[in-house]
Amino acid sequence: MAITLNTGYLKNFVSNDEMNAFAAPVQKAQQDLHNKTGAGHDFLGWVNLPSNTPDALVAELSALGREVRENSEAIISVGIGGSYLGIRSTLEFLGGDSGVPVYYAGHNMATSDMARILKVIEKKNVTVVVISKSGTTTEPAVAFRIIDLAMRRKYSSAELKKRIICVTDEKKGALRQIADKEGYRSYIIPDDVGGRFSVLTPVGLVPLALAGVDIKAFVEGFRAGEKEYANPDLLKNACYQYAVIRNVLYRKGKCIEMMASFYPNVQYVCEWWKQLYGESEGKGGKGIFPASTILSTDLHSMGQLMQDGMRNIFETFLMIDNVLDRVSIPSQAEDTDKFNCVAGKDLDWVNKQAYKATSDAHYEGGVPNLTITLDKADAFHIGQLYYFFEKGVGISGYLLGVNPFDQPGVEAYKKKMFVLLGKK
Ligand code: PA5
Repeated sequence: MAITLNTGYLKNFVSNDEMNAFAAPVQKAQQDLHNKTGAGHDFLGWVNLPSNTPDALVAELSALGREVRENSEAIISVGIGGSYLGIRSTLEFLGGDSGVPVYYAGHNMATSDMARILKVIEKKNVTVVVISKSGTTTEPAVAFRIIDLAMRRKYSSAELKKRIICVTDEKKGALRQIADKEGYRSYIIPDDVGGRFSVLTPVGLVPLALAGVDIKAFVEGFRAGEKEYANPDLLKNACYQYAVIRNVLYRKGKCIEMMASFYPNVQYVCEWWKQLYGESEGKGGKGIFPASTILSTDLHSMGQLMQDGMRNIFETFLMIDNVLDRVSIPSQAEDTDKFNCVAGKDLDWVNKQAYKATSDAHYEGGVPNLTITLDKADAFHIGQLYYFFEKGVGISGYLLGVNPFDQPGVEAYKKKMFVLLGKK
């Protein structure tokens, strides 16, 4: 069980001396995270959250999940940003099917999506989990208004108390008031964990348990990450190396990080990572722009730019060592397409040759690249990977000289929208 970092294709872009120059700043950043002495120290609850997550909560939520799956044909998860991406990322990464599909609402205001959700409520027995830390975010609040009414039309108030679950602040916000007034079951998001760091809180744990994810293994993965990425020695800490490499490259004008994977189940992991890194580092005129591609699909669209465009990009491949499914490539008597050279090979072997060829070609084309490899795509590894990236952005943000734990910029559009909506 492991996550490894390969830095072979950074040669001539990042030297050992440049890495070593960050050893002391990294130690300072680690101390600031662990001792809560840096910027944004009120939002560092995620650092020790894995070991602070009670096993009793995991057991309680696993039991809740079993109960919900017995009486529900679908789960509707309402939330946006940090209250949405980690859930979808985990479920799509795991790809499993507990038999109860999860639908997402409250992450946009498209009528087409909402109409689809309303049809699901009409036709199936559903459980709704509505997630909002602030309890006041427009998109999930408006979505929940619509969904709540549809649920009331279908179910008795006793049923609603079972079928609507709220995840929100302990005391503040409209969602807390609604949960208390209506007697809906509710779970608390800790004050000191920001939205994009909250997948290990009930924000992620409740819907993931409902969907049948092995949340015990998920928490164990986080705990393994907490332990492994606490090592202050830069040479022995892959997470800190990732943070330093990003900063070395950024200072050389590589201001775009392309997260690339040859595995489509990683697409929403990239979306989660984009929020984590974009919202944490993009401030004060600074920040690496986080982008993503799914390959080999996007090699036929973005491949040209990656190989030959403006050289302001570095690439981080996210690979999976052992895939679950095996698919052998058949031999053909005529060999018209001349691909009998791979007959008998597994499709994933070909996929991995495409990765090797791409990382080599992009390096030759002037794109430094590194690779993060997961042993396999299971609940344990995604938990560990999330912690890797969370700790990575905490260190990286401090090295960059920003507060990685606030997001003042996201308020600007909200203020203008509230004026347009006439919201008091
Ligand atoms: O990272 C963040 O803080 C944001 O992306 C929030 O998660 C997002 O805006 C949703 O906020 P809330 O959970 O308060 O509805």
